[in-house]
Amino acid sequence: MLAIPINQDNSPEAVLDILCTLKVRDVMTHPILTARPSDTMRQIQQTMKKNRITGIPVTDTASNLLGIVSMDDIISALDSGWIDDPAGLHMTTKVIVLQETMSLSFCVSYFNRFSYGRFPVLDSDSKLVGIVTASDVVSTLLVALNREMEKIEQTSASESQGAAETGPSGERVIEFPTEPFNFEIAGQASTEIKKLLKAAGIDQSVSRRVGIASYELEINQVIHSAGGVMRYVITADTLTIEARDRGPGIPDLERAMTEGFSTATDRVRALGFGAGMGLPNTKRVSDTFTIESSPGGGTVVRAGFTLKPAPEGRTP
Ligand SMILES: Nc1ncnc2c1ncn2[C@@H]1O[C@H](COP(=O)(O)OP(=O)(O)OP(=O)(O)O)[C@@H](O)[C@H]1O
Ligand SMILES: [Mg+2]
Repeated sequence: MLAIPINQDNSPEAVLDILCTLKVRDVMTHPILTARPSDTMRQIQQTMKKNRITGIPVTDTASNLLGIVSMDDIISALDSGWIDDPAGLHMTTKVIVLQETMSLSFCVSYFNRFSYGRFPVLDSDSKLVGIVTASDVVSTLLVALNREMEKIEQTSASESQGAAETGPSGERVIEFPTEPFNFEIAGQASTEIKKLLKAAGIDQSVSRRVGIASYELEINQVIHSAGGVMRYVITADTLTIEARDRGPGIPDLERAMTEGFSTATDRVRALGFGAGMGLPNTKRVSDTFTIESSPGGGTVVRAGFTLKPAPEGRTP
């Protein structure tokens, strides 16, 4: 697999901006070649060879994704003598997909988390609209980075995008809304907060933990709730994340806090979530953690952190 050398924790602000602004649909290849389940593995191999590609999604006539045939599947078919069988019998059916409105940061982390060379891209109706390979991402990033470098030379750093206010005791409060399955804005809150901590010279070991907790809580609102608000209260030496949503609430908090417990649907799992690790991980990385929820009502999770400055002489 081609590993993309981008670490979100210590990337320059310009890279983070690009990763959040660009969407999967901006980098994906489309329209794409697809195969039908009745096509033979040999026919697919020939199409792959002719078009110099290493994987083809298999769809029905209504553009629903059924599976994918990769070079590995072709090699297995040749080895096992089923190269003349229909693809429907031998394609890979457990496919991790991206949604076209997700930001590029999702894309990059998927290449790090899953060892696949390509991800099919679905639209909001779950229809196949494109495919993303690591080289699509790299080439788009290079062009965008170049453009960004030119901009940086001309203007000063951009303002944080969250709605910010200053509370009564001088603390800073920043809020970001979340909406169900709106990946257009998912992840934005976490990225902005990491940028802010970085600019404030906070130690990376702290901002990394804040980033993990924030991201998990934010994504939980996007995939499990009717939407809500990610609220960050920052004082000179503390940061509290308050993730508050509009329901449906969590019926059994103890189970929800258990590693591996998840109610994620197949749609959510296909998007790479649903390991049941978000809440336990959030608790593990936070200095203080509380969760309240009432079935039918909303859920409020609070994760607190003690902020400490990066060691002298080290740029965070
Ligand atoms: N904001 C929320 N509203 C309603 N239910 C929630 C919310 N957050 C979590 N849950 C419930 O708690 C379960 C466990 O959450 P957790 O974040 O640990 O795992 P997950 O989101 O299912 O998977 P992962 O986070 O590993 O992708 C969820 O499957 C869901 O049932
Ligand atoms: Mg989760």
